[in-house]
Amino acid sequence: MPRIAYVNGAYERASEAAVSIEDRGYQFADAVYEVWSVFDGRLADLAGHLNRLERSLAELQIAMPMPRTSLLVVLNEVVRRNRIREGLVYLQVSRGVAPRDHVFPVGVRPSVVITAKPVDRDAAAQKAASGLKAISVPDIRWGRCDIKTVGLLPNVLAKQKAKELGAGEVIFVDGDGFVTEGGSTNVYIVTKDGIIRTRSLTANILPGVTRLNLLPLIREASLELREESFTLDEAKAAAEVFITAATSLVMPIIAIDDHKIADGKPGPIACALRDVYIERARASAGV
Ligand code: PDD
Repeated sequence: MPRIAYVNGAYERASEAAVSIEDRGYQFADAVYEVWSVFDGRLADLAGHLNRLERSLAELQIAMPMPRTSLLVVLNEVVRRNRIREGLVYLQVSRGVAPRDHVFPVGVRPSVVITAKPVDRDAAAQKAASGLKAISVPDIRWGRCDIKTVGLLPNVLAKQKAKELGAGEVIFVDGDGFVTEGGSTNVYIVTKDGIIRTRSLTANILPGVTRLNLLPLIREASLELREESFTLDEAKAAAEVFITAATSLVMPIIAIDDHKIADGKPGPIACALRDVYIERARASAGV
């Protein structure tokens, strides 16, 4: 079955779908994106991602390409046409197409591309059962990492380096030695006293939707949670480290820079939070 993409109003074969060479997403990374996980054919954490999309667009002064209700119809149609039960949906909105000039073009319409792909949940569960290795890298990104733009070159280079070193994620570290976030995830530690710590939301990190919906579950489980920064050394000395994103959900980290986290196995809190997160996300998908 061919993959189907939504491109500016049309559903097309993904292999043949195209955007203009003068699309500003292509020329300037003048575009934002969102990624939803799909459970049982329904979009998970739906409202959180739509809210963040609207915020990212507003920060860049790009108009919402269509009303939220219409966007929802299109997102669901892409899921349906690709027959996705378990998977991911990618949405990108660029400022539009115009002859190359740095300043905003006048009177252009935003470009919208939506794609979807299946995810093998069994393979993902196996990955979570083994945990991921991470490497640390200096956070050389810009000062507005809270906007989900497609300008991801530092993330791409860092994640490629991780891959070459046999790791599955990078942990960005700021100039003061504090962890900001992962290459495409938010990062948490569980201290030896059982306290869960994750950086508070500042312009240096993306306000993860998985994070947004996981924090109440942590509190519900009567675990102590602190939204405060931690250093790379504190992460290496922690009882557990884990990451979250729509793609990896909740994923244990078992080593950073070849330094084992605790006994080098996925931690019990991370594993339990993964289960509860997936259960809730599945139950509330589509809402
Ligand atoms: N990335 N931080 C960064 C830098 C990210 O790119 C992401 C998500 C997150 C987690 O956000 P959320 O929980 O809303 O997925 C944090 C997406 C999945 C990606 O680039 O593929």
